Amino acid sequence: MKKYEEQIASATEKFKKLLEEQLERVDRINAAKESIDYSSLDKIIIGICGGDGIGPTITAAAQSVLCDMLSDEVASGKVEFRVIDGLTIENRAACNKAIPDDVLAELKKCHVILKGPTTTPRAGDPWPNIESANVAMRKELDLYANVRPVCVPEKGIDWTFFRENTEGSYVVGSKGIHVTDDLGMDFVVTTTEGTKRIARLAFEYAKANGKDRVSIVTKANVIKTTDGKFLRICEEMAKEYPDITTDEWFIDIMTAKLVDEKRRRDFKVFILPNLYGDIITDEAAEFQGGVGTAGSANIGKRYAMFEAIHGSAPRMVKEGRAKYADPCSMLRAAVLLLSHIGYQEKANKLARALDICMFEEKELTVTGRDTGCTCEEFANYVKGTLKTL
Ligand code: IPM
Ligand code: MG
Repeated sequence: MKKYEEQIASATEKFKKLLEEQLERVDRINAAKESIDYSSLDKIIIGICGGDGIGPTITAAAQSVLCDMLSDEVASGKVEFRVIDGLTIENRAACNKAIPDDVLAELKKCHVILKGPTTTPRAGDPWPNIESANVAMRKELDLYANVRPVCVPEKGIDWTFFRENTEGSYVVGSKGIHVTDDLGMDFVVTTTEGTKRIARLAFEYAKANGKDRVSIVTKANVIKTTDGKFLRICEEMAKEYPDITTDEWFIDIMTAKLVDEKRRRDFKVFILPNLYGDIITDEAAEFQGGVGTAGSANIGKRYAMFEAIHGSAPRMVKEGRAKYADPCSMLRAAVLLLSHIGYQEKANKLARALDICMFEEKELTVTGRDTGCTCEEFANYVKGTLKTL
Protein backbone atom coordinates (compact mmCIF):
# COMPACT_ATOMS: atom_id res chain seq x y z
CA MET A 1 0.00 0.00 0.00
CA LYS A 2 1.89 2.97 -1.34
CA LYS A 3 -0.26 5.50 0.50
CA TYR A 4 0.78 4.29 3.96
CA GLU A 5 4.25 3.06 3.10
CA GLU A 6 6.00 5.27 5.64
CA GLN A 7 3.60 4.50 8.47
CA ILE A 8 3.78 0.77 7.80
CA ALA A 9 7.57 0.89 7.77
CA SER A 10 7.64 2.76 11.07
CA ALA A 11 5.09 0.41 12.71
CA THR A 12 6.98 -2.63 11.38
CA GLU A 13 10.16 -1.31 12.97
CA LYS A 14 8.37 -0.95 16.33
CA PHE A 15 6.79 -4.38 15.96
CA LYS A 16 10.20 -5.91 15.25
CA LYS A 17 11.44 -4.47 18.55
CA LEU A 18 8.48 -5.96 20.39
CA LEU A 19 9.16 -9.35 18.84
CA GLU A 20 12.80 -9.17 19.92
CA GLU A 21 11.81 -8.24 23.47
CA GLN A 22 9.26 -11.03 23.68
CA LEU A 23 11.61 -13.65 22.26
CA GLU A 24 14.25 -12.60 24.79
CA ARG A 25 11.61 -12.95 27.51
CA VAL A 26 10.72 -16.43 26.26
CA ASP A 27 14.40 -17.43 26.50
CA ARG A 28 14.56 -16.01 30.02
CA ILE A 29 11.44 -17.91 31.15
CA ASN A 30 12.69 -21.12 29.61
CA ALA A 31 16.01 -20.76 31.44
CA ALA A 32 14.45 -19.88 34.83
CA LYS A 33 15.58 -22.14 37.62
CA GLU A 34 13.52 -24.02 40.16
CA SER A 35 11.37 -22.13 42.64
CA ILE A 36 12.95 -20.74 45.81
CA ASP A 37 12.86 -22.99 48.86
CA TYR A 38 12.15 -20.71 51.83
CA SER A 39 12.98 -23.38 54.36
CA SER A 40 16.59 -23.41 53.15
CA LEU A 41 17.08 -19.67 53.77
CA ASP A 42 18.85 -18.41 56.90
CA LYS A 43 16.74 -15.30 56.81
CA ILE A 44 13.55 -14.33 54.99
CA ILE A 45 13.44 -10.64 54.08
CA ILE A 46 9.95 -9.14 53.87
CA GLY A 47 9.91 -5.82 52.00
CA ILE A 48 7.13 -3.37 52.86
CA CYS A 49 5.97 -0.75 50.34
CA GLY A 50 3.17 1.53 51.47
CA GLY A 51 2.17 2.80 48.03
CA ASP A 52 -0.21 5.74 47.42
CA GLY A 53 -3.54 7.03 48.68
CA ILE A 54 -4.90 4.78 51.45
CA GLY A 55 -1.95 2.40 50.77
CA PRO A 56 0.34 3.56 53.62
CA THR A 57 -2.55 3.37 56.13
CA ILE A 58 -3.73 -0.15 55.31
CA THR A 59 -0.20 -1.45 54.74
CA ALA A 60 0.92 -0.17 58.15
CA ALA A 61 -2.03 -2.02 59.71
CA ALA A 62 -1.09 -5.29 58.01
CA GLN A 63 2.58 -4.80 58.86
CA SER A 64 1.81 -4.30 62.54
CA VAL A 65 -0.26 -7.50 62.65
CA LEU A 66 2.51 -9.42 60.86
CA CYS A 67 5.16 -7.97 63.21
CA ASP A 68 3.12 -9.17 66.17
CA MET A 69 2.74 -12.66 64.72
CA LEU A 70 6.39 -12.98 63.69
CA SER A 71 7.98 -11.29 66.72
CA ASP A 72 9.89 -14.43 67.77
CA GLU A 73 11.20 -14.95 64.26
CA VAL A 74 12.31 -11.32 64.03
CA ALA A 75 14.04 -11.59 67.44
CA SER A 76 15.91 -14.72 66.37
CA GLY A 77 16.93 -13.18 63.04
CA LYS A 78 14.94 -15.66 60.94
CA VAL A 79 12.71 -12.90 59.55
CA GLU A 80 13.52 -9.28 58.75
CA PHE A 81 11.04 -6.55 57.83
CA ARG A 82 12.47 -3.91 55.52
CA VAL A 83 10.48 -0.78 54.77
CA ILE A 84 11.14 0.41 51.22
CA ASP A 85 10.17 4.03 50.66
CA GLY A 86 9.91 5.67 47.29
CA LEU A 87 7.24 3.69 45.45
CA THR A 88 5.02 6.76 45.46
CA ILE A 89 3.34 8.37 42.49
CA GLU A 90 5.23 11.65 43.17
CA ASN A 91 8.56 9.83 43.04
CA ARG A 92 7.64 7.71 40.06
CA ALA A 93 6.41 10.75 38.16
CA ALA A 94 9.59 12.70 39.02
CA CYS A 95 11.82 10.06 37.44
CA ASN A 96 9.24 9.11 34.81
CA LYS A 97 9.49 5.43 35.67
CA ALA A 98 6.93 2.88 36.81
CA ILE A 99 9.43 1.78 39.48
CA PRO A 100 12.43 4.03 40.27
CA ASP A 101 15.76 2.23 39.80
CA ASP A 102 16.81 2.52 43.46
CA VAL A 103 13.45 1.15 44.63
CA LEU A 104 13.70 -1.78 42.22
CA ALA A 105 17.23 -2.54 43.46
CA GLU A 106 15.92 -2.60 47.05
CA LEU A 107 12.94 -4.80 46.11
CA LYS A 108 15.30 -7.29 44.50
CA LYS A 109 17.16 -7.69 47.80
CA CYS A 110 13.96 -9.00 49.44
CA HIS A 111 12.35 -12.42 49.15
CA VAL A 112 8.74 -11.38 49.46
CA ILE A 113 7.03 -8.00 49.40
CA LEU A 114 3.89 -6.65 51.01
CA LYS A 115 2.74 -3.81 48.80
CA GLY A 116 0.02 -1.23 49.29
CA PRO A 117 -2.01 -0.08 46.27
CA THR A 118 -0.27 2.34 43.92
CA THR A 119 -1.87 4.99 41.74
CA THR A 120 -1.91 4.22 38.02
CA PRO A 121 -1.95 7.43 35.94
CA ARG A 122 -4.77 7.82 33.45
CA ALA A 123 -5.34 10.32 30.69
CA GLY A 124 -6.29 13.66 32.26
CA ASP A 125 -4.36 13.02 35.50
CA PRO A 126 -1.67 15.46 36.54
CA TRP A 127 0.87 12.63 36.21
CA PRO A 128 2.89 11.52 33.16
CA ASN A 129 1.50 8.44 31.42
CA ILE A 130 3.81 5.98 33.20
CA GLU A 131 3.03 2.26 33.38
CA SER A 132 1.21 0.86 36.42
CA ALA A 133 3.67 0.06 39.22
CA ASN A 134 1.81 -3.23 39.82
CA VAL A 135 2.15 -4.35 36.27
CA ALA A 136 5.79 -3.23 36.14
CA MET A 137 6.62 -5.11 39.34
CA ARG A 138 4.94 -8.26 38.10
CA LYS A 139 7.03 -8.05 34.95
CA GLU A 140 10.33 -7.03 36.57
CA LEU A 141 10.17 -9.74 39.22
CA ASP A 142 8.54 -12.24 36.83
CA LEU A 143 5.58 -12.82 39.16
CA TYR A 144 3.75 -15.12 36.80
CA ALA A 145 0.83 -16.23 38.96
CA ASN A 146 -1.78 -13.99 40.49
CA VAL A 147 -3.57 -16.13 43.03
CA ARG A 148 -6.85 -14.66 44.31
CA PRO A 149 -9.00 -16.60 46.78
CA VAL A 150 -12.63 -15.68 47.35
CA CYS A 151 -14.50 -17.43 50.13
CA VAL A 152 -18.07 -16.88 51.32
CA PRO A 153 -18.95 -19.89 53.48
CA GLU A 154 -22.65 -19.07 53.90
CA LYS A 155 -23.08 -18.94 50.13
CA GLY A 156 -21.05 -22.10 49.55
CA ILE A 157 -18.41 -20.14 47.66
CA ASP A 158 -14.81 -21.31 47.95
CA TRP A 159 -12.95 -20.23 44.85
CA THR A 160 -9.29 -19.79 44.01
CA PHE A 161 -8.43 -17.92 40.84
CA PHE A 162 -5.09 -18.50 39.14
CA ARG A 163 -4.73 -15.50 36.90
CA GLU A 164 -1.78 -15.52 34.49
CA ASN A 165 0.06 -12.38 35.50
CA THR A 166 2.81 -11.49 33.03
CA GLU A 167 1.41 -12.14 29.56
CA GLY A 168 -1.88 -11.89 27.66
CA SER A 169 -3.17 -8.40 26.95
CA TYR A 170 -0.90 -6.85 29.58
CA VAL A 171 2.53 -7.87 28.38
CA VAL A 172 3.11 -5.19 25.80
CA GLY A 173 1.48 -2.65 28.11
CA SER A 174 2.12 0.90 27.08
CA LYS A 175 4.02 -0.18 23.96
CA GLY A 176 1.05 -0.64 21.67
CA ILE A 177 1.43 1.05 18.28
CA HIS A 178 -0.43 4.02 16.84
CA VAL A 179 0.10 3.10 13.19
CA THR A 180 -1.70 6.23 11.94
CA ASP A 181 -3.95 8.76 13.65
CA ASP A 182 -6.83 6.44 12.76
CA LEU A 183 -5.33 3.06 13.63
CA GLY A 184 -4.12 1.93 17.05
CA MET A 185 -2.98 -1.63 17.80
CA ASP A 186 -2.25 -3.49 21.02
CA PHE A 187 -0.93 -7.02 21.21
CA VAL A 188 -1.80 -10.20 23.09
CA VAL A 189 0.93 -12.69 23.90
CA THR A 190 0.81 -16.33 24.99
CA THR A 191 3.96 -18.39 25.45
CA THR A 192 4.29 -22.11 26.01
CA GLU A 193 6.26 -21.93 29.25
CA GLY A 194 4.31 -18.90 30.47
CA THR A 195 1.13 -20.95 30.24
CA LYS A 196 2.59 -24.20 31.52
CA ARG A 197 3.86 -22.61 34.72
CA ILE A 198 0.52 -21.04 35.71
CA ALA A 199 -1.35 -24.23 34.80
CA ARG A 200 1.10 -26.34 36.81
CA LEU A 201 0.71 -24.13 39.87
CA ALA A 202 -3.08 -24.30 39.66
CA PHE A 203 -3.27 -28.08 39.22
CA GLU A 204 -0.70 -28.67 41.96
CA TYR A 205 -2.67 -26.38 44.28
CA ALA A 206 -5.88 -28.28 43.48
CA LYS A 207 -4.18 -31.60 44.13
CA ALA A 208 -2.56 -30.53 47.40
CA ASN A 209 -5.78 -28.99 48.72
CA GLY A 210 -8.25 -31.70 47.76
CA LYS A 211 -10.00 -29.55 45.15
CA ASP A 212 -11.35 -31.96 42.58
CA ARG A 213 -12.34 -29.50 39.90
CA VAL A 214 -10.36 -27.06 37.76
CA SER A 215 -12.06 -24.74 35.28
CA ILE A 216 -10.09 -23.26 32.38
CA VAL A 217 -11.58 -19.96 31.26
CA THR A 218 -10.72 -18.34 27.92
CA LYS A 219 -12.33 -16.84 24.84
CA ALA A 220 -10.68 -19.38 22.56
CA ASN A 221 -13.65 -19.41 20.19
CA VAL A 222 -12.71 -15.90 19.08
CA ILE A 223 -9.16 -15.16 20.25
CA LYS A 224 -8.02 -18.30 18.54
CA THR A 225 -4.25 -18.03 18.45
CA THR A 226 -3.34 -16.89 21.94
CA ASP A 227 -6.34 -18.09 23.97
CA GLY A 228 -6.41 -21.23 21.81
CA LYS A 229 -2.81 -21.96 22.76
CA PHE A 230 -3.51 -21.23 26.42
CA LEU A 231 -6.46 -23.62 26.43
CA ARG A 232 -4.61 -26.38 24.59
CA ILE A 233 -1.68 -26.30 27.01
CA CYS A 234 -3.95 -26.36 30.08
CA GLU A 235 -5.94 -29.27 28.64
CA GLU A 236 -2.75 -31.16 27.92
CA MET A 237 -1.61 -30.68 31.51
CA ALA A 238 -5.00 -31.76 32.86
CA LYS A 239 -4.24 -35.27 31.55
CA GLU A 240 -1.53 -35.54 34.21
CA TYR A 241 -4.21 -35.08 36.90
CA PRO A 242 -6.78 -37.79 36.24
CA ASP A 243 -8.39 -37.38 39.69
CA ILE A 244 -9.27 -33.78 38.95
CA THR A 245 -12.25 -32.98 36.73
CA THR A 246 -11.26 -30.30 34.24
CA ASP A 247 -13.77 -28.27 32.31
CA GLU A 248 -13.43 -25.39 29.92
CA TRP A 249 -15.53 -22.25 29.79
CA PHE A 250 -15.68 -19.07 27.82
CA ILE A 251 -15.24 -15.94 29.88
CA ASP A 252 -18.62 -14.42 28.98
CA ILE A 253 -20.69 -17.35 30.19
CA MET A 254 -18.41 -17.88 33.20
CA THR A 255 -19.01 -14.27 34.22
CA ALA A 256 -22.72 -15.07 34.15
CA LYS A 257 -22.34 -18.40 35.97
CA LEU A 258 -20.68 -16.72 38.94
CA VAL A 259 -24.01 -15.08 39.73
CA ASP A 260 -25.92 -18.35 39.23
CA GLU A 261 -26.51 -19.40 42.83
CA LYS A 262 -27.16 -23.03 41.91
CA ARG A 263 -24.12 -23.55 39.70
CA ARG A 264 -21.46 -21.37 41.22
CA ARG A 265 -20.93 -23.58 44.27
CA ASP A 266 -19.52 -26.25 41.96
CA PHE A 267 -16.54 -24.17 40.88
CA LYS A 268 -13.33 -24.47 42.84
CA VAL A 269 -10.15 -23.57 40.99
CA PHE A 270 -9.96 -21.36 37.90
CA ILE A 271 -7.13 -20.81 35.43
CA LEU A 272 -7.39 -17.71 33.26
CA PRO A 273 -5.35 -15.45 31.00
CA ASN A 274 -4.40 -12.09 32.49
CA LEU A 275 -7.21 -9.72 31.46
CA TYR A 276 -10.09 -12.13 32.12
CA GLY A 277 -8.56 -12.89 35.51
CA ASP A 278 -8.37 -9.20 36.29
CA ILE A 279 -12.02 -8.59 35.47
CA ILE A 280 -13.64 -11.67 36.95
CA THR A 281 -11.79 -11.45 40.28
CA ASP A 282 -13.36 -8.04 40.96
CA GLU A 283 -16.76 -9.58 40.27
CA ALA A 284 -15.97 -12.54 42.51
CA ALA A 285 -14.70 -10.33 45.35
CA GLU A 286 -18.01 -8.48 45.30
CA PHE A 287 -19.80 -11.58 46.67
CA GLN A 288 -17.39 -11.58 49.59
CA GLY A 289 -18.07 -7.97 50.56
CA GLY A 290 -16.21 -6.06 47.84
CA VAL A 291 -12.68 -5.59 46.62
CA GLY A 292 -11.76 -4.09 50.00
CA THR A 293 -11.94 -7.58 51.49
CA ALA A 294 -9.81 -9.41 48.94
CA GLY A 295 -6.06 -10.01 49.01
CA SER A 296 -3.91 -11.44 46.31
CA ALA A 297 -0.60 -13.23 45.90
CA ASN A 298 1.70 -12.52 42.95
CA ILE A 299 4.00 -15.49 42.78
CA GLY A 300 7.20 -16.03 40.86
CA LYS A 301 10.04 -18.52 41.11
CA ARG A 302 12.39 -16.18 42.95
CA TYR A 303 10.11 -13.43 44.34
CA ALA A 304 6.54 -13.04 45.51
CA MET A 305 4.47 -9.93 46.17
CA PHE A 306 1.27 -9.68 48.20
CA GLU A 307 -1.27 -6.92 47.79
CA ALA A 308 -4.89 -5.84 47.87
CA ILE A 309 -6.84 -6.34 44.67
CA HIS A 310 -8.12 -2.75 44.71
CA GLY A 311 -6.63 0.64 43.97
CA SER A 312 -5.32 3.50 46.12
CA ALA A 313 -8.73 5.22 46.60
CA PRO A 314 -7.53 8.82 46.13
CA ARG A 315 -11.08 10.06 46.72
CA MET A 316 -11.03 8.74 50.30
CA VAL A 317 -7.82 10.64 50.94
CA LYS A 318 -9.19 13.81 49.36
CA GLU A 319 -12.27 13.63 51.55
CA GLY A 320 -10.12 13.07 54.65
CA ARG A 321 -11.30 9.50 55.16
CA ALA A 322 -7.97 7.64 54.75
CA LYS A 323 -7.83 6.68 58.42
CA TYR A 324 -11.17 4.86 58.03
CA ALA A 325 -9.88 2.68 55.19
CA ASP A 326 -10.56 -1.05 55.46
CA PRO A 327 -7.33 -3.00 56.06
CA CYS A 328 -8.97 -6.40 55.39
CA SER A 329 -7.65 -6.72 51.84
CA MET A 330 -4.08 -6.22 53.07
CA LEU A 331 -4.66 -8.53 56.04
CA ARG A 332 -5.90 -11.23 53.64
CA ALA A 333 -2.76 -10.57 51.59
CA ALA A 334 -0.77 -11.08 54.80
CA VAL A 335 -2.44 -14.51 55.22
CA LEU A 336 -1.23 -15.47 51.75
CA LEU A 337 2.26 -14.16 52.54
CA LEU A 338 2.55 -16.21 55.73
CA SER A 339 1.40 -19.32 53.91
CA HIS A 340 3.80 -18.72 51.03
CA ILE A 341 6.90 -18.46 53.24
CA GLY A 342 6.03 -21.63 55.11
CA TYR A 343 4.13 -20.39 58.20
CA GLN A 344 0.91 -22.22 57.39
CA GLU A 345 -0.28 -22.46 60.97
CA LYS A 346 0.09 -18.73 61.49
CA ALA A 347 -1.65 -18.14 58.17
CA ASN A 348 -4.60 -20.28 59.27
CA LYS A 349 -4.73 -18.43 62.57
CA LEU A 350 -4.83 -15.01 60.93
CA ALA A 351 -7.48 -16.20 58.47
CA ARG A 352 -9.55 -17.48 61.39
CA ALA A 353 -9.17 -14.20 63.30
CA LEU A 354 -10.28 -12.28 60.22
CA ASP A 355 -13.34 -14.50 59.75
CA ILE A 356 -14.29 -13.86 63.37
CA CYS A 357 -13.78 -10.08 63.15
CA MET A 358 -15.29 -9.62 59.69
CA PHE A 359 -18.18 -12.08 59.64
CA GLU A 360 -18.97 -13.62 63.02
CA GLU A 361 -18.36 -11.42 66.03
CA LYS A 362 -18.24 -8.06 64.21
CA GLU A 363 -17.58 -6.07 67.37
CA LEU A 364 -16.09 -3.34 65.20
CA THR A 365 -16.77 -2.68 61.55
CA VAL A 366 -15.00 -0.52 59.02
CA THR A 367 -17.27 1.40 56.71
CA GLY A 368 -14.74 3.68 55.06
CA ARG A 369 -16.25 6.64 56.94
CA ASP A 370 -16.60 7.92 60.50
CA THR A 371 -19.68 5.72 60.86
CA GLY A 372 -17.26 2.84 61.42
CA CYS A 373 -14.01 2.27 63.29
CA THR A 374 -10.61 3.38 62.03
CA CYS A 375 -8.19 1.17 60.18
CA GLU A 376 -5.88 1.12 63.20
CA GLU A 377 -8.70 0.21 65.59
CA PHE A 378 -9.67 -2.69 63.35
CA ALA A 379 -6.05 -3.92 63.21
CA ASN A 380 -5.96 -3.82 67.02
CA TYR A 381 -9.23 -5.77 67.12
CA VAL A 382 -7.65 -8.45 64.90
CA LYS A 383 -4.54 -8.53 67.11
CA GLY A 384 -6.69 -8.92 70.21
CA THR A 385 -8.66 -11.73 68.57
CA LEU A 386 -5.44 -13.48 67.59
CA LYS A 387 -4.45 -13.62 71.26
CA THR A 388 -7.63 -15.56 72.06
CA LEU A 389 -6.90 -18.28 69.47
C1 IPM B 1 -5.35 -5.57 39.73
C2 IPM B 1 -5.44 -4.15 39.23
C3 IPM B 1 -4.30 -3.88 38.26
C4 IPM B 1 -4.43 -4.82 37.08
C5 IPM B 1 -4.23 -2.41 37.80
C6 IPM B 1 -4.10 -1.47 38.95
C7 IPM B 1 -3.15 -2.18 36.79
O1 IPM B 1 -6.68 -3.93 38.64
O2 IPM B 1 -4.34 -5.91 40.37
O3 IPM B 1 -6.27 -6.34 39.50
O4 IPM B 1 -5.11 -4.51 36.12
O5 IPM B 1 -3.85 -5.90 37.16
MG1 MG C 1 -8.05 -5.53 38.79
